[in-house]
Order: sequence, then C-alpha cells, then structure tokens
Amino acid sequence: MAIAYLNGEWMQPEDARVSVFDRGFMFGDGIYEVMAVYDGEVFTLDQHLTRLQRSLDAIRLDSPHTSEEWRTLILEAVARGEENPAYLYLQVTRGVASPRNHVYPAAASPTVLITVMHAPVLERTDIVPLKVVTKADFRWGRGDIKVVSLIANGLLKNEAIAEGYDDAILIRDGEVTESTAANVFIVSNGVIVTPPKSNFLLHGITRGHVIELAQAAGLVVEERAISESELLGADEVWVTSTGQEVWPVGQVNGQVIGNGSAGVVWQSVDDLFQGSKRISP
Ligand code: PDD
Repeated sequence: MAIAYLNGEWMQPEDARVSVFDRGFMFGDGIYEVMAVYDGEVFTLDQHLTRLQRSLDAIRLDSPHTSEEWRTLILEAVARGEENPAYLYLQVTRGVASPRNHVYPAAASPTVLITVMHAPVLERTDIVPLKVVTKADFRWGRGDIKVVSLIANGLLKNEAIAEGYDDAILIRDGEVTESTAANVFIVSNGVIVTPPKSNFLLHGITRGHVIELAQAAGLVVEERAISESELLGADEVWVTSTGQEVWPVGQVNGQVIGNGSAGVVWQSVDDLFQGSKRISP
C-alpha cells in the first residue's frame, strides 16, 4: 500500500492535492530527496538527511522540521507504507504565495510531501549494460542542489532516448559531470575514477557510499576530472544512483566499453553494494 504525507496529513498518494499557487508549481521553487527502503530500513538515511538540510540552506528555505523530526516522519511513512522494497520521495517547496511574485513571501509556510511507493526488485540478471551518448551539459551552475526543477535533465534524457540510447552522460568544458540522473564512474588501468564534487554535479549519496565501500575493500579510488576521451577509452563505465544502484554502461556513443558487458571491477563493487544493504550503513 503506497502512502503520502502532505503538510501534516496522511492519505493515499492519488488523493494528495497541492495549490496551483504553490511556488513548487509556479517556479520549481523547491528541493527533494529520493531514498531507497530495503527490508523496512531507509538506506543511508543519515546522509540523505544531511543533504536535505544542505539543499534547504542553499535555496534559503528554513527547514520546517528538525533533523530528528524528519527522521521520525520518514520512519513513520515507511511503517505506514508497508512497501518493500520502496522508494521514498520527499519534496519541500517554498509553499503557497499569491499573487505570483519572484520575491520570496515574508512568511513562507513550506509545502512538505513525502510518498512511499513500491520499487521494483532488481534481479542481478535484469542488469543489462546501458547504451549512452555524450551530450553538452547546458544545465545551470548549481547541479549540487537537489532541486525539483529538472527540465534540463528531462530534455537531455529524452533527447538521448529519441536518438536510440538509454541515457546521456553530460560533458562540460570537455569533462564528464554526471548522467541525467546519476553519477558517473570509470575504471581505467585498475583504478576507479569519478569526477570530484563541484557545483556542477549532484553529490550523490550512492556515489559517496560506493567510494567508501571500494576504499574499505582496498580498491583504489581517485576523485578527479575525467575527459570525454578518457571516458570513451575506459575499461569500465558505471552510473550510480539511489534507483540504479551501481549500473554498468556497455557502450558510449556506439563505442563498446571493455567487452560490452558488466566488468570485473563492477562485479566486485556491486557485490559490496548488495552486501551493504544488509548492514545498516
Ligand atoms: N537521482 N545526479 C543526478 C542529476 C541525480 O538526479 C541523481 C539521483 C544522482 C545520484 O544521487 P543519489 O545517489 O543520491 O541518488 C546524481 C534520483 C534518484 C532521482 O531523481 O530520481
């Protein structure tokens, strides 16, 4: 049973209603988080709560809840949702303000929406390496804030799909930033490489978790710039996100990566990742 929490009330997601004057609708003026629920536990919850606060601070929106209140609400949503595995979406907008005005309302009352919905069970055999295309990253300069306005990400992903690919890896000034909804890793000469945190890419929770797991297992991880040509010549390419976990890429711009199937380093890291779901990180 899916569940929604909207501004203090619990309901079915299809019954949740937000005003047309909500700044989330008018301006895309809000932030969000997506968390995975495995065996009734919210995966990497602390890291998501930290990023939630960081996003709120970045858009100058006072948090309507303390960290402990968020945690309680999230756990209650999971308990009420009774879905396993599940995705928990949390959106906070600057709330309802009319008439429409770019200037922030003096007394904003943020809109808070949490939904818990069923997630597909990912069998390892379902993992087919992605075919991706590189595209110019024309998004705004604050990709590090998890904002609800995803118009550019949507345009880029849908362009890639219309051209026959699964997704796009984005290139800014000759360097990889991320994909349209995930972070990017490559394996080059046995070293795992991912672009460093910057204002141009989301500081993915999965990215951070994968780096920690790999380093703890003795694998070498470098956070440094990846040029487009290094991407194309990599031994392995993966994307990481809450939904995709660690997913291999088999082709970039029609060029086969490795032998086109999931690589050996991916296999080790995926084993570590799957194992970490059973231990609260
Ligand atoms: N997407 N980069 C972008 C642009 C993203 O949208 C996401 C997540 C990530 C990976 O972040 P994390 O590991 O914290 O999920 C990187 C989510 C899942 C979404 O929008 O549905």
